[in-house]
Amino acid sequence: MTPNASSAPRSLAADGIVREALETIELPAIPLLPSASSTGYDLARRIRNLLDDPDLDRILEEQVGLEEEILHDARTIARRAYASPDVDNEARSELHRSLLGLYQQHVRLPVDASLANQFHPFAMRLLYELEKPWERAMLSRAHSAYDLSMEALPADPAAFAEWYRTTAFTHPLYEHELYAFLSSEATRPQLEWFFTMECAGEAAFDDLVAMAQVGTRGDVKMEMGSNYWDELGKGKRHAVHTHLFHKLIEDLKLRAPAADELPWQVLAGVNVMLWSCIPRRNAFRAQGTLGAVELLAPQRCTRVVHGAKRVGIRKTSVVYYGAHAIIDIGHAEGWLRNVIEPQVAAFPESRAGIAEGLITRADASLDYFDFCLARARTIAAPAASTITVSRGGKSWQHGKNRVDASTERRPASA
Ligand SMILES: [Fe+2]
Ligand SMILES: [Fe+2]
Repeated sequence: MTPNASSAPRSLAADGIVREALETIELPAIPLLPSASSTGYDLARRIRNLLDDPDLDRILEEQVGLEEEILHDARTIARRAYASPDVDNEARSELHRSLLGLYQQHVRLPVDASLANQFHPFAMRLLYELEKPWERAMLSRAHSAYDLSMEALPADPAAFAEWYRTTAFTHPLYEHELYAFLSSEATRPQLEWFFTMECAGEAAFDDLVAMAQVGTRGDVKMEMGSNYWDELGKGKRHAVHTHLFHKLIEDLKLRAPAADELPWQVLAGVNVMLWSCIPRRNAFRAQGTLGAVELLAPQRCTRVVHGAKRVGIRKTSVVYYGAHAIIDIGHAEGWLRNVIEPQVAAFPESRAGIAEGLITRADASLDYFDFCLARARTIAAPAASTITVSRGGKSWQHGKNRVDASTERRPASA
């Protein structure tokens, strides 16, 4: 199931910069995203404005009831988003915008915002109210589709790593129709739209790896350190992965959407990485989510490169994808051998979290791929107000604002 390295564009090596990049690269990166929405109720904006105020305690003291009002709103949105059998797209988008703003308090520099209230009890309470219902839904979805009990997961480290690999390559997102579409069918505007979603939808992988390695030891720390150094282009500025992705955006003159322009399927893909990498209780889950990114990247990156070449985008513009199509094959093997195996050998209980991380990341990617395929097709057929996605003999519909859970076969929506 491992993608074929020979499918990567050989002529990339002709360009000196690109060659150097190919010697180093790895996976996703990209900063995010400012502002919030201007229509309807905007919980994310209210939270951000309050948390940006260095005098938050005074505001909460003077405006009696404000704290409870916002907490009540957060609980209501979370209930609509993840405690209902229907998929409420507006509620999910509001929840993930708000959650992203809270997570960003932990990964940014105090430049555009003071971050003075990073650990304020109000921020912590909001995070709890918004994160818990989503987390419960994610884990419920994972456990309903897979037996992730300690009895079912292989106890032998090498056998568990093999389970991890097989599970990743047999998840419904593998061989997703989106990547066949991008490779052989999508028009240039459709591909360019997809790239804007990509730049909005990735947290900085280098920072994620850096956070994930805290507290690890031995081979696990060494592999994460090596992976991190690859993210930084092994010290070559032009080969830093975030730089390579920015080159794509600049070459194609694309504009990264703001968070309030993005649906939950994009935002949840970012949040699942931040959810796993920021809280230490999720340290083993982070090893699962990050490994999933590595294992699943080469195949999809190869197909994106093929699609880009087909519509006339210069190979040097998509070097980010061309590089990851190759390098993540090695990263995936390194992660299995030097992170998963030794971690399970040292702490057998870690396999539960690692497995949950793999599935939750894969499920989030599946939602994202479904959304991208459905929406990209509307660029060619803008009259459609309802889009049908089919896979594996099943089909479901994406309406303009809602997905009817009764037509959706995946456990995610429950
Ligand atoms: Fe990688
Ligand atoms: Fe990378």
